Amino acid sequence: MDTKKLLYCVLCYFFLSLLSGQQVVQGHLAPHHHHDHSHRHRHLIKSGGSSKLFVFGDSYADTGNTNKSSSTVWKDPYGITFPGKPAGRFSDGRVLTDYVAKSMGIRSPIPYRWRKFGIPLLIYGMNFAYGGMGVFPTYASIPGPNITTQIDFFQNLITDNVFNISDLQSSVTLVTLAGNDYFAYILKNGGAQGLESLIPKVVTQLTVDLERIHGLGAKKIAVTALQPLGCLPWSTTTSSFQQCNGTYNSLVKYHNLLLEQAVAKLNKETNDSAFVIIDLYASFMSVIQNKGEEQGSIKFENPLKPCCFGISSNYSCGSVDESGAKKYALCEDRQSAFFFDFVHPTQEGWLAVYAALQPTLKQLF
Ligand SMILES: *[C@@H]1O[C@H](CO)[C@@H](O)[C@H](O)[C@H]1NC(C)=O
Ligand SMILES: *[C@@H]1O[C@H](CO)[C@@H](O)[C@H](O)[C@H]1NC(C)=O
Ligand SMILES: *[C@@H]1O[C@H](CO)[C@@H](O)[C@H](O)[C@H]1NC(C)=O
Ligand SMILES: *[C@@H]1O[C@H](CO)[C@@H](O)[C@H](O)[C@H]1NC(C)=O
Ligand SMILES: *[C@@H]1O[C@H](CO)[C@@H](O)[C@H](O)[C@H]1NC(C)=O
Ligand SMILES: *[C@@H]1O[C@H](CO)[C@@H](O)[C@H](O)[C@H]1NC(C)=O
Repeated sequence: MDTKKLLYCVLCYFFLSLLSGQQVVQGHLAPHHHHDHSHRHRHLIKSGGSSKLFVFGDSYADTGNTNKSSSTVWKDPYGITFPGKPAGRFSDGRVLTDYVAKSMGIRSPIPYRWRKFGIPLLIYGMNFAYGGMGVFPTYASIPGPNITTQIDFFQNLITDNVFNISDLQSSVTLVTLAGNDYFAYILKNGGAQGLESLIPKVVTQLTVDLERIHGLGAKKIAVTALQPLGCLPWSTTTSSFQQCNGTYNSLVKYHNLLLEQAVAKLNKETNDSAFVIIDLYASFMSVIQNKGEEQGSIKFENPLKPCCFGISSNYSCGSVDESGAKKYALCEDRQSAFFFDFVHPTQEGWLAVYAALQPTLKQLF
């Protein structure tokens, strides 16, 4: 590589560091959170900082892939906590991907959309997740690649030798599926009637996708179990954020049961226990039920109430009218809200979920 190219890469690296709000300190990792330094250090030694994270899925994992022109997350107040401005994360700050990377002792992998910016950025893997996506086509208004197509992108990069087999063998893969296939069904049909029959189809397609990632050479593949959809502000708004909707949660339990069976079968067939479930149902529930309580102090006074919401049902978080006037309300203390908008946790919410997921995440490394 000549000097000019090298300089270009270094500049891009810096540019992207600014973009993603992360810091590079003398070639080492700057800790995201001061309170977790020793923990991070231990993992760094263990993994040598060499393993990559590959990510597929939706808004629970997307760190900037979503098309700017079709997504509200590129507008205020998304990203207000981290990186300080909208950057394509569906939260006020960090999301699940960032915390999985953190537990591996690496920086959050770059979004696929930035792949042209050079080799130095690829050492932490790549994030192929796009908000709004599922295993099947979801919303006409949000164009983007389903999980199959995201894996196609990955496969093309392997063919082009951007990632090789040893990268894959030492990698961790995260696949999120937060329910867009189901949301899209509910929107289209005006309710959840008949949704049960879609569930086995979604899980079957997800299983095909997981098997394919394994077939490419990935050794550790973590897939999320569905979070309690009945506890999302999206469904608790009818009870003024007072109680979870049991109808939705039963459907979620059915999805998760089928997923558990499918993953057990995959592990049996492949012999190497490659597949791990990240149980977002249990972790969301435990945080919601104990209000994020840590050492006797309650963090989330009403964990079901979102921080950001439209001023009427015609508007959502981030909406503005023709004149640019805000049509949403934002809570004062984002740290005391579990949900940011009607579907997505706050950074503080994800941090609490991450804490609850520690025993699972340990299985990955
Ligand atoms: C983003 O969305 C716009 C409008 O829907 C579309 O014209 C454009 O091709 C999309 N860009 C990408 C990179 O998908
Ligand atoms: C995923 O998207 C591609 C491209 O739009 C489409 O051809 C394919 O059928 C989709 N996959 C599934 C499982 O729906
Ligand atoms: C795979 O790529 C890595 C860089 O990501 C490189 O260090 C390694 O030598 C390559 N391995 C093979 C087998 O090509
Ligand atoms: C739960 O959601 C279902 C489906 O939308 C709805 O029919 C039902 O009334 C809701 N239950 C409660 C307690 O809000
Ligand atoms: C799994 O193990 C069995 C018995 O040791 C072996 O016959 C089979 O080929 C293995 N399957 C794979 C996918 O490695
Ligand atoms: C919401 O939108 C509908 C249709 O566009 C309109 O008739 C209604 O007045 C709006 N409601 C509010 C509260 O703005």
